[in-house]
Amino acid sequence: MELINHRYCIDGVDVLDLASRYPSPLFVYSAATIERQYRRLSDAFAATRIRLNYACKALQNINILRILCRAGAGLDAVSVQEVRMGLLAGFPPERIVFTPSGVCMEELEEAVSLGVHVTLDSLSLIEKFGLRYGTQVPVFIRINPHVMGGGHLKISTGHKGSKFGISYEQTAEILELVRRYGIQVEGLHMHTGSDILDLNAFFASADIMFRTAAQFPSLRFIDMGSGFKVPYKPDDYQTDIVQLGAQLSAKFNAFCQDYGRELTLIFEPGKFMVSEAGYFLTKVNVVKQTPITTFAGINTGLNHLIRPMFYDAYHHIVNASNPEGEVKNYSVVGYICETDTFAWERPLPEIREGDCLVFQNAGAYCFSMASNYNARLRPAEVLVRDGRDFLIREPEVFDDLMRHQIDLG
Ligand code: LLP
Repeated sequence: MELINHRYCIDGVDVLDLASRYPSPLFVYSAATIERQYRRLSDAFAATRIRLNYACKALQNINILRILCRAGAGLDAVSVQEVRMGLLAGFPPERIVFTPSGVCMEELEEAVSLGVHVTLDSLSLIEKFGLRYGTQVPVFIRINPHVMGGGHLKISTGHKGSKFGISYEQTAEILELVRRYGIQVEGLHMHTGSDILDLNAFFASADIMFRTAAQFPSLRFIDMGSGFKVPYKPDDYQTDIVQLGAQLSAKFNAFCQDYGRELTLIFEPGKFMVSEAGYFLTKVNVVKQTPITTFAGINTGLNHLIRPMFYDAYHHIVNASNPEGEVKNYSVVGYICETDTFAWERPLPEIREGDCLVFQNAGAYCFSMASNYNARLRPAEVLVRDGRDFLIREPEVFDDLMRHQIDLG
């Protein structure tokens, strides 16, 4: 978003103009930013054979999936519904990896029938899978590397106490099941966490991965998950993609040489692809002075953007209606009947009722984690592409809330 002649614009489209033409609140996504992020990451890993599978849990609108599909991405899907969305968007099944956590055999069978790669994440599932498919269907196996990484405990998934994957210390048990049923293991998978600050967490996981992978002779893929940290604040730290790409590619190439075959390195970025592409346009319902602070109450809440409340996440806010107003401190809060604070005592240009406040980094895990709590409707979504804006999701209406209720009278 850039300030042009005192007006905020998203790829040349005026934010206040969008706010006036569409219902509020509104999610807006920049196609160019998503394409740029895809290129940045693939360029960083140009020295090795890489596949970037978009983790579509971050943002699932079919138009976003299509942008990434056209750019050349694969898809990381964690439910069979995400698999179906990916197929609808045009991803060929061989470019989709199903990496769920703790699913039942029926869901896995459905994914197999759709022709995508599947990942097993427990010994018990390997056993069931072996009994059902024997040598017929190749699989990925998710390993837990016992590495702590991630911006918040809730999004750290590779540590010893986490539910994800099979401990790398249980490799002998995995191998025993694999031998017993003749299972073809075509890939190993790992995902250490999200918002990883320290490159060493990636390297430590990679070391465990390569050591484990050496014991599986028929691999084609090594899937390192994701966790790239994007900037949320102005001048925020972000994963040094160029350095990571150079160092990890070199480690991976060396591993392939020892292994005796060129494998494909997979990453599954969600945030990196779409976080910065998203903007959430909201409106100020009320400015309320209390003895403690000045609240700006906006027409949304934790039902639409839960990250600040759930992960203590920082989202940068701008006042698009008064970009050069006098800066004062405001506590920006939602309209939900719970404490849903987006920002406490945040310096912002003077806020008046009716102003348009814009949240940045609203692409990843914002709409996709939205709910109908308090019987609130989920907002519309707009895509900005080539200097034009397109409605890509209708705003919900009251009937949507009642659609699946059965009234017993
Ligand atoms: N692969 C797997 C298996 C995952 O579980 C995830 C995210 C990703 C890839 C993508 O990670 P990313 O590139 O987005 O860091 N809702 C949280 C993030 C939860 C991530 C869950 N898994 C948030 O808003 O910060």
